[in-house]
Amino acid sequence: MRGARELNGGENKMIQVDPEKCKKDGLCREECPVAIIDWGKHGGFPEMIDGGEKNCLVCGHCVAVCPNGALSHKLVPLEECPTIDEKLRVDLDQVTQLLRSRRSIRNFRERPVEKEKIERLIHIARYAPTGGNLQLVHWTVFTSREAIWKMASLAIEWIRKLMETVPLASLPPYMPRIVAGWDSGKDTVLRNAPVVLIASSPKQDPNGMVNVTLALSYLELAALPMGLGTCWAGILQRALQSYEPLREMVALPEGHTNHYPMMLGYPKFRYFRLPERRPPQISWR
Ligand SMILES: Cc1cc2nc3c(=O)[nH]c(=O)nc-3n(C[C@H](O)[C@H](O)[C@H](O)COP(=O)(O)O)c2cc1C
Repeated sequence: MRGARELNGGENKMIQVDPEKCKKDGLCREECPVAIIDWGKHGGFPEMIDGGEKNCLVCGHCVAVCPNGALSHKLVPLEECPTIDEKLRVDLDQVTQLLRSRRSIRNFRERPVEKEKIERLIHIARYAPTGGNLQLVHWTVFTSREAIWKMASLAIEWIRKLMETVPLASLPPYMPRIVAGWDSGKDTVLRNAPVVLIASSPKQDPNGMVNVTLALSYLELAALPMGLGTCWAGILQRALQSYEPLREMVALPEGHTNHYPMMLGYPKFRYFRLPERRPPQISWR
């Protein structure tokens, strides 16, 4: 980018501004969430303040907000940030229908899910926000029938042990039913899903559970136009929190205490209606 080196005092600066494109509108300066962009001494173009690198969230807002493509960031290079395609904008009715038509899938087709599709979904899920833009979510992906069956069977083992040691009345009523279903050949833990994904984040991530949840939410919505369906695996999650043999089998990255599993696959059935929910509970203050 011509002129950038002179303007920003060398290659080590994180942001580079093209003086021929910059209109000095100050949008990058106003937009920066940590206020580390200011008017520079060299011709009044925006610059990162001294030591700003340490506080930069690497969120890319400075690149995204510039209408002139004048600013590039070392870690969010302009050439890797495509312009928004107006033709691809969706309207509120489309978004509402997409969100309302997502269903928890409990009957999957036998068909395996292509690895490229799983990878594509995980790539899209990266665009979910993360606290402080930390981006620490990790994915553990199971695609083998045997491994998925093993996970479900360990969850059943955990419920059986609970039923032996804890008064039945204190357990959720669905637990004995899950075991009875398993014994009659029905897996209501992982529903014979062809894929199980576990999103996880390290203990030291202050917003770990929120970040994991958001990533999974993005993934499950992105799965819809690909003809795929998902279901949050709440029973497996509870077992994973408590049962060491299952934790060992799943082998999440060391220290990843924030986690949630999700089933993924091609739905066996289509849905024709959008079920209504209860009215929202709102307190206007
Ligand atoms: C955190 C969470 C955990 C869930 N765990 C399970 C589960 O273990 N098994 C299951 O069949 N459905 C599970 N569900 C799906 C809910 O039952 C479902 O979202 C709800 O019945 C509404 O149906 P819908 O998702 O199709 O709108 C879970 C959903 C969430 C959000």
